[in-house]
Amino acid sequence: MVRTMSGIQPTGKLHSGNYLGAIVNWVELQKNYEAFFCVVDLHALTQRPDPAVLKQAVREVAIGILASGVDPDKSTLFVQSQVPQHAELGWIMTCLTPLGDLNRMTQFKDKSAQQPENINAGLFTYPILQTADIALYRADRVPVGEDQDQHLELARETLRRFNFVYGETFPDPQTVRSHAPRVIGLDGQAKMSKSKGNEIGLFETADETMQKLRGAKTDPARLRKSDPGTPEVCNIFSWHGFFSPAEQRAEIAAGCRSAQLGCVDCKKMLATNLEAVKGPIRERAAALRDNPARLDEILDAGARKARVAAEATMQLVRERIGLRPSK
Ligand code: TYM
Repeated sequence: MVRTMSGIQPTGKLHSGNYLGAIVNWVELQKNYEAFFCVVDLHALTQRPDPAVLKQAVREVAIGILASGVDPDKSTLFVQSQVPQHAELGWIMTCLTPLGDLNRMTQFKDKSAQQPENINAGLFTYPILQTADIALYRADRVPVGEDQDQHLELARETLRRFNFVYGETFPDPQTVRSHAPRVIGLDGQAKMSKSKGNEIGLFETADETMQKLRGAKTDPARLRKSDPGTPEVCNIFSWHGFFSPAEQRAEIAAGCRSAQLGCVDCKKMLATNLEAVKGPIRERAAALRDNPARLDEILDAGARKARVAAEATMQLVRERIGLRPSK
């Protein structure tokens, strides 16, 4: 069976960008692929999180993934640090990655600017650990948002290098895109992200969502309700594309162009449609929070399964590169 693998950092609460750009595809892919999904806590260490906060964030992200529809009977859901082979393969991949390739990573520059007081080596080598994550499960498909393109390209190059030097071992991992690979935040400018504070959280209530939407940027040229708008340049309209039925979208576009529909009403319709998606997710998340033993059970079982797959890859890798086999 063809494999899929992906991960999310536990660095804050999940937002609609994570959901639309990645998790919706995880839910789809688990139907036809052998799926490994992971909360990448080792990656999050590059931001030196408070230990208690990290522990909690790992649980919340796992809850969000499950509440969104990842089914533990179909997918292997686990926490990265519980599979030590990630770090082991990470080192091996480090020795195969030219410094020049890492120097090109734009995320390193962005992340360094966000935490100038803590530009640690992990921030720089981060994409190598991501390469190892993908390689460890010999994944063919990697469902991620557009912001991961550079990392995926680096992973492909590194794995091709491994195959060239040591013999064909890893498949060429293909990116799987959702219908919303780059969700823009409430500011209408930057990619929605935890660090920008421009996100709509996955667990926010309908009221919280509407409050945030009230301040969200729309078509900048539409100053009054009586001004006809241009839906194509409006971020709220693009979100309708992710959450609203086609018929309603056509009505909204016509209403906006003819100035019959105001931005507030358009936002209210979006809030209703968002709630139709988020309400059931919030309910399932609440049920999971009420049953911490069930979450532990899922993550422990996931880690056990992931370790078996990871160790099988590592035995092959150790043999290929000439390391003494562990018995
Ligand atoms: P992270 O935790 O930043 O984001 C998790 C997933 O959400 C997607 N995403 C978005 N998609 C569309 N629009 C947005 N505004 C948006 N914001 C986030 C991301 O593209 C990602 O798919 N390095 C990765 C985690 C990782 C990983 C891996 C992914 C570690 N190892 C192995 C795949 C395979 C990251 O920081 O994602």
